[in-house]
Amino acid sequence: MAKTPMMQQYLDAKAACGDALLLFRMGDFYELFYDDAKIAARELGLALTSRDKGENPIPMAGFPYHQLDSYLGKIIGAGRRAAVCEQVEDPRTAKGLVKREVTRVVSPGTLTDDALLDPRESNFLAAVAHAPAKAGDRQGEVGIAWAELSTGRFCAAAFPVHQLADELTRIGPRECLVADDAPPLPERLARSWMITRRPAWAFSHETAKASLTKHFQTAGLEGFGFTDRDTAAVRAAGAVLDYLVESQKSSLDHFDRLTRYHVGRYLEVDEATRRSLEITRTMRDGRRDGSLLAVIDRTTTALGTRLLADWVAAPLTARAEIEDRLNAVEELVAASRPREALRDELKEVHDIERLLARVATGRASPRDLSFIGRTLANLPAIRQTLENCASPRLVRLLADLDPCQDIRQQLDAALVPECPLTLKDGGIIRQGYHPQLDEYRDMAAGGKQWIAEYQAREMERTGIAKLKVGYNQVFGYYLEVSHANQQRVPPEYTRKQTLKNAERYITPELKEYEERVLLADDQAKELEYELFIQLRDAVHAAARRLQKTAAVLAEWDVLAALAHLASHHGYCKPVPVEEPVVNIVDGRHPVLDILEPQGTFVPNDTTCDATSGMILLITGPNMAGKSTYIRQVALLTLMAQIGSFVPARSATIGIADRIFARVGASDELARGQSTFMVEMTETARILHSASPRSLVILDEIGRGTSTYDGLSLAWAIVEHVHDHIGCRTLFATHYHELTDLSTTLSGVTNLNVSVKEWEDHVVFLHKIVPGAADKSYGIHVARLAGIPRAVNERAKQILAQLESEHVDEHGRPKIGAGRSKPRRGDLQLTLFAPMDHPLLDTIRHTDINRLTPLDAIQLIQKWQKELRVD
Ligand SMILES: Nc1ncnc2c1ncn2[C@@H]1O[C@H](COP(=O)(O)OP(=O)(O)OP(=O)(O)O)[C@@H](O)[C@H]1O
Ligand SMILES: [Mg+2]
Repeated sequence: MAKTPMMQQYLDAKAACGDALLLFRMGDFYELFYDDAKIAARELGLALTSRDKGENPIPMAGFPYHQLDSYLGKIIGAGRRAAVCEQVEDPRTAKGLVKREVTRVVSPGTLTDDALLDPRESNFLAAVAHAPAKAGDRQGEVGIAWAELSTGRFCAAAFPVHQLADELTRIGPRECLVADDAPPLPERLARSWMITRRPAWAFSHETAKASLTKHFQTAGLEGFGFTDRDTAAVRAAGAVLDYLVESQKSSLDHFDRLTRYHVGRYLEVDEATRRSLEITRTMRDGRRDGSLLAVIDRTTTALGTRLLADWVAAPLTARAEIEDRLNAVEELVAASRPREALRDELKEVHDIERLLARVATGRASPRDLSFIGRTLANLPAIRQTLENCASPRLVRLLADLDPCQDIRQQLDAALVPECPLTLKDGGIIRQGYHPQLDEYRDMAAGGKQWIAEYQAREMERTGIAKLKVGYNQVFGYYLEVSHANQQRVPPEYTRKQTLKNAERYITPELKEYEERVLLADDQAKELEYELFIQLRDAVHAAARRLQKTAAVLAEWDVLAALAHLASHHGYCKPVPVEEPVVNIVDGRHPVLDILEPQGTFVPNDTTCDATSGMILLITGPNMAGKSTYIRQVALLTLMAQIGSFVPARSATIGIADRIFARVGASDELARGQSTFMVEMTETARILHSASPRSLVILDEIGRGTSTYDGLSLAWAIVEHVHDHIGCRTLFATHYHELTDLSTTLSGVTNLNVSVKEWEDHVVFLHKIVPGAADKSYGIHVARLAGIPRAVNERAKQILAQLESEHVDEHGRPKIGAGRSKPRRGDLQLTLFAPMDHPLLDTIRHTDINRLTPLDAIQLIQKWQKELRVD
C-alpha cells in the first residue's frame, strides 16, 4: 500500500512513543491504528473498523474527542499508557497536512486530570536505582525517588537493598521506573504497579545531577541535603525527572524542590506488618475501607485526607515532634467551638494542590482558577477561627499562612462567579474587568439586538407572521419562511437552502450585521483567552506561596480531624516516653471500637516493661480475642507516634523504632511460597532486625507445621527474643505448653483471655487476665460442640497422659530442660552454670572423626582462650 503523508505522520509519531497506545487526533475523533486498534477493540470495547478498504486495509478504532478523559481512564485502568497526538495547527488555516505532535504521554504514575485521580490518595511515580554492591560495601544500597505530578511533591532517599519492598509498599506508587539493565523487582511488587523500563543512561549519576540542577536552577543539590555520597538517591530522582520531562512536554516548575526522606525520623513498618495490621488497606480485599486509616479519617478536605494518609504511613520517632502534634491536637480537643468552626470553613476549601499543578502544567480550566479564588476567599474566615490558639504548632501554622489575598482579588475581579468548565465558549471574564472586552461584547450584543429588531421589521413589512431569523454554522444568519408563505417573499431575498417545510434566505443587510456580530464575538473570545492566560500566569507566579498555604490548610484539617475523632470517641492523650514500655489502661482496638456497636468493645489493660515482663504470652480459646488484643497494642503505639490521641483511659507509650507484626497464617500461594515458608521468612526477619526499642507482635507462630515442629520453633523463638533482643513482645498462641516458658524465663508473663461457661454456652468475656489459660478447654469446647461423649472421654485420657509426660522428675517442663530460670541478682552464677555454657554445645557438636591431632590441639587452645576471656 502506498502510504499517505498522514499515515506516514502517524507512523513517525507511533515509532517515538514506544508501547503507549497512540491516540491520533483526526478532526473530531481520536483514532487508533494497526495493533493499537486491535488492543483498543479488545480492552476498551471500541468497534474495530478499517481505513483504506482496498487490498491492505488498516485496522482502525476511535472515539469522539470529548470522550478523551473517559478513554484515558479506561486505558490506565487496563494497565496501559497512552500518547495523545494532537493537531497543533488550526486545520482551517493549515496549508496541506495539518501538523500533529504528541503533546503528552499519560501513564498511571503521571495523571493530573481530576477525573482520573482519587482525591483521597496520592498518585506517585517512583524510580528505583540499584547501586552495584562494591567490595567491602555493607550490603548494597538502593535509591528510591517518588514524585507526584498532580501536586509537585518530590522526595528521594537511599535504603539498604533488603528494605526495597518495605519502602515501596509504604510509598505505594502507581508506576515504578527501573533501568533497562537493572535486576527485576520482586514479582509481587511487579504485579502491584506498572513497571516502566527506562534506558540505563537515565539513571546515570552525571545525567541525573545535570538534569536536576538544570531543573532547579541550582549549582548543586547540597541545598536540598544531598551530597556526592548520595548517588543512589540522586540517580533515582534524576530518572523520575527525566521521565516527566519526556512524557509531559509541559512546564514542571511546580516541582520546586527535592525533599530528602530521613530514614530513622520515621517509624519503620515493613511490608508484612503494614499488611497484617491493616494500616491503610484491609488484608481481605486490599481496600481502604475498614483499614485503620479509613476508620480514623475525619478530614474534610482532599488536602487533609492525603496528608493524614502520609502521617499514618510514616509515624514519627522523635519525641519532641510527636509531642508537638499531640499538644496541638489537645488544644483543639478542648477548644471544640473554634475546632468545629474551622472544620465547617474547611468544607469550602478546594484541592488547591492539584489545581495548582494543573496551572503549572498549563492544563488548568477557567473553573480551576475560580476554585482557587474561592478557596482563597475563605482564608480570612478560616484564619479567624484559630486566631487565639496557643500551642506552638498551631501558632506556627498561623504565622506560616499566606492568605494570598492579592491573588484572590485578581481572580475575583476577573472571573464570573459561576465559571464555565471550558474556554471554548468564552463567558469567563466579568463585565467591567476589561474595557476593550466590554466593547467587543457590546458590539456583538448590539448586532444581535439589531437582528432581533430586523426580524420584527421584516415580519411587519412582508406580512409573514411566521418569519424567523436563525443561525447555523454553514450559512450564518438566515431568514426562514415556510412553504405556505412563499408567495409573500420579497424579491431581494436570496434563497440559500430548501428544507422539507421551509426555505431559507439571506439579505445583504443581514450579512453585514452578521459579519459585525461574528467578528466582535471572535475578538471577544480571543481577548478573553488572553486575559485568562494572564490570570493563569499570575497564579503560576504565586505557586510557591499558594503551595505553602495549601500545606497549612492540610495540616489544620488533619489536626482538627484528629481532635474531632478524639473528642467524639473518648480518646486520651498518650504520653510518649523514650523507655521501651507500654502501659495502657482500658485500651480499645481503634477499628473495632468504632465499627462495633457503641459500648460493646471490652477495654483491656496492657503492662509491658522490664519489671513486669517484656514478653507477654497470651493464651485462650478460639474467638476469645487474643489477636485483637495484640493488634490493639501495636495500633495504639502507631497512633501515638502519628501524634493522635488513642482509644484508652490512659496510655504511656515508649517510642518504638520499628513495629513488627506477624499475624495470622495468611495464605500466600499466589506469591509462590507456602504458608509456612512465608511465616518463617517473616519471623526470620524479625529475629534479625528487631532492636531493644522495637515492638513485636507474634500471632500463632509455628501453626503452619506439625505440632511438635511448630511448638519447638515457637519455644526457641521466644527464648531468642528474650535472651538476645529483649524488646517488647506480645505473643498470642494456642500452644498451652508455651506458658511453661514463664517458669524458665524471667521476662515472660502469662496472660489469658477469660471465658465463662454459662448453662450450655461459652460466654466470651474478652477480658485479659493474668495467668495461663485452662488447658483442657479445647476438649471442653468440643463437648459443647456435640462431639460424642466416648470420643471426648478418650481425649481426656490421652490429654492426662500427655500432660504427665510433659513434666520431668524435677517438676520442670520437659521442653524447658537444658535451662534453668535465672534468679534475679544471681546472674553471674547462672552464666557460669555448666549446663548453660555455650562452649559445651560446641564440644558436643565437634566431629572428632574429622580432626587431625594438630587440629584437636589448636581447638583446645582456642577453647582455653575463650574461657579465660569469660
Ligand atoms: N475486647 C473485645 N471486646 C469485644 N469484642 C471482642 C474483643 N476482642 C475480640 N472481640 C471479638 O471477638 C472476635 C474474635 O477475636 P480474635 O480474632 O481476636 O480472637 P482469637 O482469640 O485471636 O481467636 P483465634 O484463636 O481463633 O485466632 C473479634 O472479631 C471481635 O469481634
Ligand atoms: Mg487469633
